[in-house]
Amino acid sequence: MKRDFLAIESLTTEELHALLDRAAKMKADRRPSDVLAGRSIGMIFEKPSTRTRVSFEVAIAELGAHAVVLNASELQLGRGETIEDTARVLSRYLHALVVRTFEHDRLERLAQWGDIPIVNALSDLMHPCQALADLLTVKERFGKLEGVSLTYVGDGNNVAHSLLTGCAMVGMNITVATPAGYEPISQIVKRAEELAAGTGARVEVTTDAAAAAEGADVLYTDVWASMGQEREVEERRLIFAPYQVNTALVARSASNAIVMHCLPAHRGEEITDEVIEGPQSVVWDQAENRLHAQKALLEWLLT
Ligand code: CP
Ligand code: NVA
Repeated sequence: MKRDFLAIESLTTEELHALLDRAAKMKADRRPSDVLAGRSIGMIFEKPSTRTRVSFEVAIAELGAHAVVLNASELQLGRGETIEDTARVLSRYLHALVVRTFEHDRLERLAQWGDIPIVNALSDLMHPCQALADLLTVKERFGKLEGVSLTYVGDGNNVAHSLLTGCAMVGMNITVATPAGYEPISQIVKRAEELAAGTGARVEVTTDAAAAAEGADVLYTDVWASMGQEREVEERRLIFAPYQVNTALVARSASNAIVMHCLPAHRGEEITDEVIEGPQSVVWDQAENRLHAQKALLEWLLT
């Protein structure tokens, strides 16, 4: 049966650990392979992307496969052809499809109607490929995942959702600090709590950023207005101002804490220039790890 990767929970905990180990190996021994020779992997982007687009295209090339990069506005999809029809047609040509879109439901419909693995390259609800790279980065820095505490400060968005699930599954403690009204959605928090009960992790949601940062091993943030929320930028800038990751907030975290950001960053908003350029920032390794994590993911989906 084909497997999709729409959410971190598309993997079992064992599969998630194995995939992270495989990604670390592929990183240590980076060289082109022909493991996916003869395969064609499509990519549809309905939103802009730098990291996801380039890291997937390079991952596909390094695995010996061929990337077919499709801009949604150049597809009949952009002129009203249905998701269901697109899924069935593309399944006849491609071996997998990587998709960045708006409503998460669009990915679920592609997965339901297509016969090939569908990979979530970001939806309004989740960004699981990012969380894979994030967990790889944490493991690289701390030599373990279990017991490491991550504090996410900012908007309870797609990145926060995938981190909640990912951390809970691997036994990392996660605290999400957001302004009131911008919390992660309750079903995802509830599910993370259930997963955490099995791994001994702690899941917390709060509006108190300073308390949340206290003693954290990882401080994580993301943009205050995600793609598709452009009209809310001004309003959010005011509401989120107390949730900036700056030197004062970093000082509250553990002395060997790392600072993470999925990028792109808005310096002076969710993170200061000083912090993102500072010695605790691991954002470039984090961005690099997208490549290695996605190579492991594609290999797992297609072999
Ligand atoms: N972090 C991330 O997904 O970046 P892009 O939007 O550039 O792909
Ligand atoms: N939350 C951000 C992540 C970008 C990689 C967005 O959805 O725009």
